[in-house]
Parts: sequence; C-alpha cells; structure tokens
Amino acid sequence: MSRTNKTSPELFEKRTGIKYQNWIQAMSVEERRNYVNNKIYNIDCIEGLKPIEDNSVDICITSPPYNVGIQYDEWNDSMKFDDYLTFAKDWLSEVYRVLKPDGRIAMNIPYEINSKHSGDGRIFLCGEYQKVMKEIGYGFAGVIDLTEDQPHRVKLTAWGSWLSPSAPYIYNPKECIILGYKNEWVKEIKGESYFDESQEKKDEFRELVFAQWKYQAETRKLTEANFSLDIPEKALKILTYKNDLVLDPFMGSGTTAVACINLDRRYVGFEISKNYWDVSDKRTKKALSKKLTTEKSYEFFK
Ligand SMILES: C[S@@+](CC[C@H](N)C(=O)[O-])C[C@H]1O[C@@H](n2cnc3c(N)ncnc32)[C@H](O)[C@@H]1O
Repeated sequence: MSRTNKTSPELFEKRTGIKYQNWIQAMSVEERRNYVNNKIYNIDCIEGLKPIEDNSVDICITSPPYNVGIQYDEWNDSMKFDDYLTFAKDWLSEVYRVLKPDGRIAMNIPYEINSKHSGDGRIFLCGEYQKVMKEIGYGFAGVIDLTEDQPHRVKLTAWGSWLSPSAPYIYNPKECIILGYKNEWVKEIKGESYFDESQEKKDEFRELVFAQWKYQAETRKLTEANFSLDIPEKALKILTYKNDLVLDPFMGSGTTAVACINLDRRYVGFEISKNYWDVSDKRTKKALSKKLTTEKSYEFFK
C-alpha cells in the first residue's frame, strides 16, 4: 500500500486555521520567524516543513516511523519498502534544505527491520538510510550504538531452526543514531556549550563522544512508539549550543521538544496524529511550567 495518509488541504486548514492555498507565499518575515518559535504543528511534516526558511535550522533530531507495521492512529506503517524510501527521500530532502550549512542531523532508527507485513523481508535499515542521505548530499559523521539500561525487553522467540545450524534466525533488535551534516561538521560560530570545566561535565563529555550511549528505557506508553527523553537530551548536549533551533519532523509525544525546554534550545516540529499531538501539547506545557517555576529568570519561553 502506498503512502495515502498525507494531510489534505481541508484537514490542514482545520488544524492550523491557515488558508492552504498560497499560505507559504502569503507569510510575512515576522510570521515565518514566529512559525519556528517553540511550536509543534498537528500536520504532515512534508507540508509543515515548507514555510521554514532555507539554511535556518541548527539540527534535526528525530525518530521517523520504521515501517514495521505499528498501529499508529493516523499513519500507514506498512508501506511497500520502495514507497517508504520515497517518503524518506522527500522528508530528508526538505530537512536538508532547511538546515544551516553547518547544520546536523541525528536520526534514531533500528539497525534492521523485518518488513513481513509488506512482503519485503529483512532490510538493513541503517544502510538504506545512509544511501538515501548520501544521495541527497549529507555528510556522514558516525553511528551511535544505543543500549537500554535494563536487559532488552524484546523477547527473541523466532529463532528459526532450534538447536540446529540449518536456518537460525539471527536478529539484532538494537537501535542506533545516524549522525550527518549538511556541508560542514565544524561550527564556525561558537555558542554557549552545555559543558564546563567541572569534573562532572568533563566525565559526561567523555561518555558522549564514545559512540555507545546507555539510556534509561521509557516505560510509559505515551504513544505507540515514544523514545526515551535521554536520547534527545544526550544529542542536544553534545551537538548543540544554547538557543539553537532544533527540528523534529516526527514529534510523537513531544520528547524532543521537552528535551529542548529542559536544555534551553528552541524547537519546531510536526505530528500527524491528533491524539499524539494532544499528548505532546500537554507534555510541553508541563515541562515549561516546571521550568518557569524552578528558574525565576527564565525569559526564553515567556
Ligand atoms: C517513531 S515515532 C516518534 C516518537 C517520538 N520520538 C516520541 O518520543 O514520541 C514516529 C511518529 O511520527 C508520526 N508521523 C508519521 N508520519 C508522519 C508525517 N508524515 N508527518 C508527521 N508525523 C508523522 C507518527 O504518528 C509517530 O508519532
């Protein structure tokens, strides 16, 4: 089945209150600036990315749908793999356009998937994404291996041939982060780093440059596929400066936005499902009010 569930112009108008026709051209400079100012939109990311200015975003931190047949309430996660790759090219190209020349991407995906539902079989997802990214023009800056702080919850029971080497099913349930950049990895303009000379921050920095991140598993089921807050927080600490603009085209429950609020980064993102968007709205409001009560002089999100 191909990708059928794009936001229609009617749905778009209902959810944003903006006239779809010529809406991008009609936006003033001020409106465009405001558009990326700590907002999550309940629309398809391909539509939502359009008004973002070229070369304006510092980093994209995201976890796209994996096409493994998850029952998202407004998204077909069982596409033919070719259609899925076309969708990946579409959104990754738009992200590339909006990234600054030294902008980065940190994308969380599984190493491999088994597309049983679409009949495409086993796929080395990491390799497929890397090919698409290279084609678009992204530079490659590494792969971070992710390990939950508790034994993996995935039960391996489909072992193929039991106690026999005839056809063992050798499967890696782990995930990673692919790191890339637009034109250059080195940032010419420096900002305020999360790290300082304290021993605690030095240790944390050393841990994060070693590409094996341990993270606390998220046990709350906020949506069908929310990731741990640890993942975007670690990425923000090692890859961004204070006040940087962070994009997540697949916000889900708003984890990336919460990490941005906690670490004083700006965010913009999209979520196609109304139910998940509601969760993200509640979570970001809660994170913000916690921030405002704990830090009296916090001007940034006011
Ligand atoms: C892997 S989940 C991301 C979860 C998120 N990191 C979190 O912590 O909640 C992918 C999300 O992308 C959303 N999604 C799928 N296609 C989309 C699209 N075209 N535009 C916007 N959101 C989309 C799904 O509804 C789902 O919530």
